Amino acid sequence: MQIFDDVLDSFFLYSKNALNLEYSDIPTPAGVFKNIHLIEDANNPLARISEALCPGHKVLLNFIRKSPLNQKEPNYIHSDIDMGDYTVLFYLNNKYPDNEGTIFYERTATKKLKAEDIEDCSDSSQFKESVIVRMRKNRIIVFPAALYHSRALIENFEIDGEPRLVQVLFLVKK
Ligand SMILES: [Fe+2]
Repeated sequence: MQIFDDVLDSFFLYSKNALNLEYSDIPTPAGVFKNIHLIEDANNPLARISEALCPGHKVLLNFIRKSPLNQKEPNYIHSDIDMGDYTVLFYLNNKYPDNEGTIFYERTATKKLKAEDIEDCSDSSQFKESVIVRMRKNRIIVFPAALYHSRALIENFEIDGEPRLVQVLFLVKK
C-alpha cells in the first residue's frame, strides 16, 4: 500500500470543481454506483498519477462519488478484485470527521476456506482490522484490489457545505 499527501498543487480548485460536477446513479458490472461522476479524460491528473504509481497498469474506471449526509451506501467488508488489480482513492474534502477513513482487514479464520467462502464477507468475525488509513485532504492511497477493506464511518457527512467526496480509480494490467 502506498499513501501520499499534498498530491495536487491545485487541490483547492480541483476539489471545488468536483463539488459542482453532475452526479448520477450509473450501472456497472459490480452493481449500481450511486451518485457518481464518471471521468473519461485520460489526462485527468489523478489518472496520470495513478498510472505512474502502478507501472504496467492502466486506468479502467475513474469516478468521483458524492455522498451527502443520509445518502444510503453499503459499508460492508469487501475486496475490489472484480474491478481490477489496483484501487486508488483520492480524498477530496477539506475537512473530515476524526474517525473517517478506510479500514483494511486480515482474515482471522484458521480453518481452510472453501472456494465459495472467499468472497463471503458477511461474517465480520472472520476479519480483524489490520490498518486504518485516515481521510485527509489531498491524500491518495493505492492498494492491491484484492485487499479486504471497508469505510470507517457508516454514515456519510457534510462539513461546511461539502458532502463526502472521494475519487476512485481501478487499474488493470496493460
Ligand atoms: Fe472498495
